[in-house]
Amino acid sequence: MARIPKETVDQIIHHADIVEVVGDFVSLKKKGQNMWACCPFHHEKSPSFSVAPAKGLYKCFGCGKAGGVVQFIMDIEGTSYVEALKYLAKKYGIDVQEEEKTPEQQLAQNEKDSQFIVSNWAKDHYHRLLEHDDEGQSVGWSYLRQRGLNQTTISTFELGYSLDQWDNLLKSATAAGYEQKYLEKTGLVVVKEDDNGQDTGRRYDRFRGRVMFPIHNVSGRVIGFGARTLKPHDKTAKYLNSPESEIYHKSDVLYGLYQARQAVRSEEQCYLVEGYLDVLSLHQGGVKNVVSTSGTSLTDGQIRLVKRYTDNVTVLYDGDAAGIRASLRGIDMLLEGGLNVRVVLFPDGDDPDSYIRKVGDQRFKDYLETASQDFIQFKTDLVSREAAHDPVKKAEAIREVLQSIAKVPDPIKRQVFLQQTSQTFGIDEQVIISEYNKLARQPTAKPGTSNGGTSTGSSGSGAGFQPETRNQSLRPSRQLSPEEEAEALMYGASPDDLAGGSDATEELEPVPDILERCEREVVRLLLLYSAQPLAPEVSVAQYLLEQLDDTTFKTGIYADMLHLCREELNQGRWPEVRTLIQHGRADIRSVVAELATEKYELSPNWTTHQIYVPRELDVLQPACDNAILRLNKVNVERELAVRLEALRHPTDEAEMMENLQTIHLLKQMDNQLAGLLGTVIPRLSL
Ligand code: CTP
Ligand code: MN
Repeated sequence: MARIPKETVDQIIHHADIVEVVGDFVSLKKKGQNMWACCPFHHEKSPSFSVAPAKGLYKCFGCGKAGGVVQFIMDIEGTSYVEALKYLAKKYGIDVQEEEKTPEQQLAQNEKDSQFIVSNWAKDHYHRLLEHDDEGQSVGWSYLRQRGLNQTTISTFELGYSLDQWDNLLKSATAAGYEQKYLEKTGLVVVKEDDNGQDTGRRYDRFRGRVMFPIHNVSGRVIGFGARTLKPHDKTAKYLNSPESEIYHKSDVLYGLYQARQAVRSEEQCYLVEGYLDVLSLHQGGVKNVVSTSGTSLTDGQIRLVKRYTDNVTVLYDGDAAGIRASLRGIDMLLEGGLNVRVVLFPDGDDPDSYIRKVGDQRFKDYLETASQDFIQFKTDLVSREAAHDPVKKAEAIREVLQSIAKVPDPIKRQVFLQQTSQTFGIDEQVIISEYNKLARQPTAKPGTSNGGTSTGSSGSGAGFQPETRNQSLRPSRQLSPEEEAEALMYGASPDDLAGGSDATEELEPVPDILERCEREVVRLLLLYSAQPLAPEVSVAQYLLEQLDDTTFKTGIYADMLHLCREELNQGRWPEVRTLIQHGRADIRSVVAELATEKYELSPNWTTHQIYVPRELDVLQPACDNAILRLNKVNVERELAVRLEALRHPTDEAEMMENLQTIHLLKQMDNQLAGLLGTVIPRLSL
């Protein structure tokens, strides 16, 4: 199937360096023999993605993705083997001799390839028109020059121009042998429908008489376009953008990141602006580490994208107050993503593009340095000014700031911000902290995510339930560091070599608590994730309740809750926090509240893996198995202890024999469970 000759393939694979290739997409840091980063394939806050240069392999210990250079490109781009090879060939300047094939579909191995190829062709077409067509020159080119853009910038960003005609692109593409289907799928051509949504058979170009801004993904492929009108009184929108398509997911794209990524990494800083022209002007002025959200509000996907390259973001704002207020939420999301956020405000009426043109490159860069403020400080100043002499507003303002602080994942930074807040508002730090704790404890947080609270454990509920004094902080790992451990696994050690026996950590716990904790954990999973699917047709609640079919809980409250959950399920409802929090019994309400608000605790067996333990939601199956196995093991051990004790005071021989047999069986079960636990736990992170 592959049309690239075997020798060329070998040559590509020989030249491609895994660290260089992967390094274009994530910021790798060396630790031990390997390089580490946060995984580009799944959401995580601490690195479990590793590259072994010696082996030419990458592997994520969180989500399991693994392979060599070509596989990496296929995974990250979702393209075929051939397209991935072509990408690498281009990167390493290797000539790919292909048989003479004109239309894209002959090269394309899959749908996405076809869309990439036609988008790339359209980009070239628009660029040709800008550079060589009369209209392109007199209208498009002169506009860009008038906006101060030079040839280098125009080439770097591959800008173009679409003629002011209904079907120039459609005709040219068809003549060049491209299938209409892909022009439609990428939104370059619009399907004309009648009032009933029926295809009229007519087609026309989406972009006409506009300057074209190709939007690249991080590997430099064109996935869509932004297009600015040049008519000052155009009744249509100033900017038109490509619609979502199989290759263009707006929420996962930042304009300019392809051109900015090297600079973002080397400067360890990413400037975030709103518009296409802001990116172009700043880049041209020497601020190359700049990307744009293209006027939409920031998404999680975009934040994750930035985070692959740096932890530091500076948001550049146009100076109007309404705009600032509106974007505070987006900035909170940056904080939640674990980024360090600074803010630069431009004088009223200016955006970064107009400001750099006004003051020049050097003064602009100086301004970025001097005017940049830490976001929390910025927000504190902003809201405290607004609330200046109004005590009611002031309380509200403090709460707003504390809400942002609660988003900061790092407890030490949170502490510093709390001190600052206390200073800015002139309010005693203890008061601020206690207000903060109230806020952080509110059960608004989603299960499994950090509610940012200082997690002072339970607030003591009494009523038939002894709150455990739980140590929320993670225990120190016993032996290898997670990187070393992962490395050892990568190089073939078996998980059991490293696990060191599953009871080892349990000895750290006071024995009487273990059973209660195991039962509590099962109830927690049951409540928080009841409806989440484990396998097709089986949800967490169904799975757990089935596993527990012949288990009785020994702790009163959890036995009651288990019973309640069963009843809910029998009634055709998912047992849920929402409903059980309304329960008539106060002790049940308070346990539900606690379970729902606490940051999920890693079971002791996980703590050695903590660095790369993924979000709980992503590992529900092993989490459930782990909880059940632990519970069973503790029950078996208790029974074993009872039987052993009985041996010491034998009554008659028959009873003793029976006891011995049972003990033998229990020991076997115990060993089996230990074995299962030993495999289930390390496997979580593989
Ligand atoms: N935008 C859009 N659709 C619109 C208006 C704006 O997609 N109808 C996006 C574009 O990405 C634009 C950004 O929002 O770049 C910021 O909008 P705006 O500040 O209005 O435009 P500028 O980038 O400043 O463009 P110009 O300077 O050419 O007016
Ligand atoms: Mn502008």
